[in-house]
Amino acid sequence: MSIKIAKTKHKVIDVIKERWSARSFSDKAISETDMETLFEAASWAFSANNAQPWEYIYAHKDDLAAFDKLHNCLLGGNQPWTKNAAVLMAVLAHKKLDNGHENRAAKHDVGAANTSLMLQATSMGIYGHVMGGFDPGKAVEILNINTEVSEPVVFIALGYLDSAEKLDEPFKTRELTPRTRKPLDEIVKRLR
Ligand SMILES: Cc1cc2nc3c(=O)[nH]c(=O)nc-3n(C[C@H](O)[C@H](O)[C@H](O)COP(=O)(O)O)c2cc1C
Repeated sequence: MSIKIAKTKHKVIDVIKERWSARSFSDKAISETDMETLFEAASWAFSANNAQPWEYIYAHKDDLAAFDKLHNCLLGGNQPWTKNAAVLMAVLAHKKLDNGHENRAAKHDVGAANTSLMLQATSMGIYGHVMGGFDPGKAVEILNINTEVSEPVVFIALGYLDSAEKLDEPFKTRELTPRTRKPLDEIVKRLR
């Protein structure tokens, strides 16, 4: 099985090194208890005003009609491999704060919650893949989203890892390609 642990220069904690965006998922279901653990992990993320502007709409693969609703929102590049995910979900951002003002941090905070969810998943042997490749119009319609209140930000596929051999190209190659990152001096500037 393809495990793409990050080769870090510094002592980064294990779950950060071990998380990666997998595409090959096994038939094993994720229990409801484990899903609740993941959502609770997400809920403990930081957020502006503690507004917690995230919302998760999810379905297990064996709830076929519900799973298909989410799967149908995905674009062509994501549909082939996500059909084997144990769980699919849409992640929404709530646009406004309780006082009615726009929450300019909403999408940032959704990302923070997703990171918590993913790192918790990694610690439990569950792999995930965030996707921006979905049709927002379809998502709004199929998932009955009130766009005055919220908007879909990303979809996420979750499952237990299977062999990369199970995937067709180009996904197989992507599954096996080592992860890379920009060097720190490209993303960090120390002011003195
Ligand atoms: C907002 C966002 C949108 C993404 N959209 C897609 C997508 O539509 N399809 C896909 O295969 N991967 C998608 N990815 C996954 C990224 O390609 C992946 O996180 C990146 O290549 C780094 O790889 P790693 O997560 O394995 O470290 C997305 C990730 C994020 C955070």
